Amino acid sequence: MTPPHEPHSPPPDMAAVVQGFYERYPYPQPVENLDSYRQLWHDPQRRRADHHLFEPAKPYREDARILIAGCGTSQAAKHAVRWPAAQVTGIDFSATSVRCTEELKRKHQLHNLQVQQLPLERAAELGVRFDQIVCTGVLHHLADPVAGLQALRSVLEPDGVMHLMVYAPYGRTGIYLLQEFCRRIGVAATDEGIRDLVTALKFLPPGHPLENLLRQAPDFRHAAALADALLNPQDRAYSVPQLFEFLAQGSLSFGRWLQQAPYRPQCGALARIPQAGRIAQLPMAEQFAAVELFRGTMMMHGVVAYRADRPGGSPQPDFAGDAWPAYVPIGQPDTILVQEKLPPGAAAVLINRNHTYTDLYLPIDAAQKQLFQAIDGKRTIGEIAPGPAQRTAARSLFETLWWYDQVVFDTSRADASANP
Ligand SMILES: C[S@@+](CC[C@H](N)C(=O)[O-])C[C@H]1O[C@@H](n2cnc3c(N)ncnc32)[C@H](O)[C@@H]1O
Repeated sequence: MTPPHEPHSPPPDMAAVVQGFYERYPYPQPVENLDSYRQLWHDPQRRRADHHLFEPAKPYREDARILIAGCGTSQAAKHAVRWPAAQVTGIDFSATSVRCTEELKRKHQLHNLQVQQLPLERAAELGVRFDQIVCTGVLHHLADPVAGLQALRSVLEPDGVMHLMVYAPYGRTGIYLLQEFCRRIGVAATDEGIRDLVTALKFLPPGHPLENLLRQAPDFRHAAALADALLNPQDRAYSVPQLFEFLAQGSLSFGRWLQQAPYRPQCGALARIPQAGRIAQLPMAEQFAAVELFRGTMMMHGVVAYRADRPGGSPQPDFAGDAWPAYVPIGQPDTILVQEKLPPGAAAVLINRNHTYTDLYLPIDAAQKQLFQAIDGKRTIGEIAPGPAQRTAARSLFETLWWYDQVVFDTSRADASANP
């Protein structure tokens, strides 16, 4: 076990300003009831797909120790609802966030949830190591994000996993214009300041970089989300290369994107540009960086990361070797198979409804449709496509389905046969 990292303290003034901001304007908009959330996660396939998205090589389990760092008003309570057998810890430095979470804990009798008012830079004080750490929408608000990431890494089990989300720069151009506008003219994070800002935004000229975003992001209908974006005292964004550098500074290695099709040059419209072949020659991280620039509108990066010294290295599926026939494909729950208005030659089109880019649909032919419909979360690829004639087609299809966020894999059987 590595000793916990000794965190550097961020400048106390900015940390206090950010804390004060979240005391007054908690995020997200507090929710009163988690019944529909519980209903959604009651589905065992959804839970299994979630487990294997983060941990393809570990057999399914429900009793992990999970830390939600910077949990806001409801994220820790939601995880406790989602995983009733897990031990969930939520920390946040905002007393308002902690109070809202305590309220949900009481209301839904979440005995598996601990909540504490604590800066994540001091996570080592919890005296626990976690199998999973979730930190979304938080690190980019810290005065010293690397110190925060290192503090979290110090409480991650050697074979644990992190789910991070940080802002991305190009899709947030409009937000940074308005942040600077507010700073220059002195719009303050007060109820009146926010109300006047909501009014002003109705007069944004057509074509303003914020305009699209206001139309597309339903979150912005809430004052809390608007304040969080436009009046946040401290925020920075990470391009793909900056994110990879950030992970390295935290002694973490990139596992996968939470949704990976938007970053993959072989997925969607990118595959049809004349430079597609040239991009495909680049190392993977460079490919992702090129795609981010071409897409131009990514607002955030959701990433799965592991400790760089994780025993056995990154556990992501690998289609280059011989292990893949023993992978068990599990359908991602928010995908649909469309059978109307199909492109020529297609027997169906697969869509992941969580994708915001409309070019990320996957047409499949009749043979591929048959293989796709044979996925039951139990059989391996080798069992679904047993004949030698089907093998090559199956390998290419299942790798493509994975990149398009249609499936995740339970690779634990392959690992078991490799390491009996
Ligand atoms: C934008 S909200 C995100 C909330 C939650 N993670 C989610 O995705 O719904 C950011 C949260 O991080 C908290 N936060 C910011 N800096 C923090 C720090 N250094 N330590 C602990 N919490 C922090 C804020 O109080 C706020 O509740």
